[in-house]
Amino acid sequence: MKINEAAKFLSTTPKTLRFYESKGLITPEKDENNQYRYYTEHDLYRISTILALREIGVSVEEIKTLLNNPNLSMNQYLDIQRSALFEQWIEMRDMIETIDQMIESGNNSIENIHQLANHLKNLKEIRSKWQDRWNFDDQALDYDENIKKEGHIFNVHEGYDEALATVEELVNVEAGDIVLDIGIGTGNLGSRFLKGEVHVIGVDQSERMLKVCKEKHPKIETRKGHFLALPLLDHSVDSIVSSYALHHLPDEEKVLALMEMTRVLKNNGQICIADLMFEDQSHRKKVIESYQQAGKHIAIEVIEDEYFADKALLVNWLRENGFQIETIQFNDILGLVYARNY
Ligand SMILES: C[S@@+](CC[C@H](N)C(=O)[O-])C[C@H]1O[C@@H](n2cnc3c(N)ncnc32)[C@H](O)[C@@H]1O
Repeated sequence: MKINEAAKFLSTTPKTLRFYESKGLITPEKDENNQYRYYTEHDLYRISTILALREIGVSVEEIKTLLNNPNLSMNQYLDIQRSALFEQWIEMRDMIETIDQMIESGNNSIENIHQLANHLKNLKEIRSKWQDRWNFDDQALDYDENIKKEGHIFNVHEGYDEALATVEELVNVEAGDIVLDIGIGTGNLGSRFLKGEVHVIGVDQSERMLKVCKEKHPKIETRKGHFLALPLLDHSVDSIVSSYALHHLPDEEKVLALMEMTRVLKNNGQICIADLMFEDQSHRKKVIESYQQAGKHIAIEVIEDEYFADKALLVNWLRENGFQIETIQFNDILGLVYARNY
């Protein structure tokens, strides 16, 4: 096809096609005599991909990187792009909410505006602060083997199977339900819900964990994403489960994570979190004291290095937000919160 035909076929302009060519995105064959460009079927496919990516906000430079990277599939790339767009969307939503509050408060004093702006700044800082200092990408291949090993002196996975089985027991699912597993890792919890016509979506910030999960459980839909910016639309899932993941977030981020969960959860939905947690602060203190007396210094170091949850904090927030709660404590450090909104 010549340039005018190709442009018409793709609902674009010859100028756009020449522009993509000048940026090195396409290289149509040229007739040596008259320099007319000829577009093959492969060129047309490539250009329609470029046009589609531009439509969803991908820059020309990013498209070039993507098309030249043989290790990144289009779906992987789109997954990353979706995750980034959800982060931007959530940041914009926070900004819009702050503007609404400024207008609605009827108090345009400098102090009030300053206070609201500071709150927004604080939110942005909390959201952007999280980093994967555990390097889960590197843990992905050996994760399933490693959790079976008894920890030296301190085994954080004691009770792992029982906790996952209890989540499976507590969360009622029906045909057609969507179950979201956040911090799905290699899929050990989410895969328990692959029964009947249930659709399981696994979100994780680690691409390698998602890769291992997909290889083990092809039926799970994996999405790159974060507890603080779930890559899902509002009220789109029936149940949310999560195991051994929330304790990678400090308490202030845990509250934002619960807000995100309620954003994507449908009415009458369920949330079930099994994780490293204490009943409350006094329980935490008691456990640490007993470990001190027993000389379990490594255990204390592990507890202090991570963010084992304060179950009371999770329960209070969920109750205040209309959930009915059940809780279980499996051992000193492993607990579960089941919440349902009616
Ligand atoms: C210890 S593994 C647990 C995996 C799985 N849920 C299980 O029970 O075996 C923690 C997982 O949570 C993920 N994760 C940690 N922090 C996260 C965050 N802020 N957002 C999304 N995923 C996170 C990690 O990438 C990792 O795959």
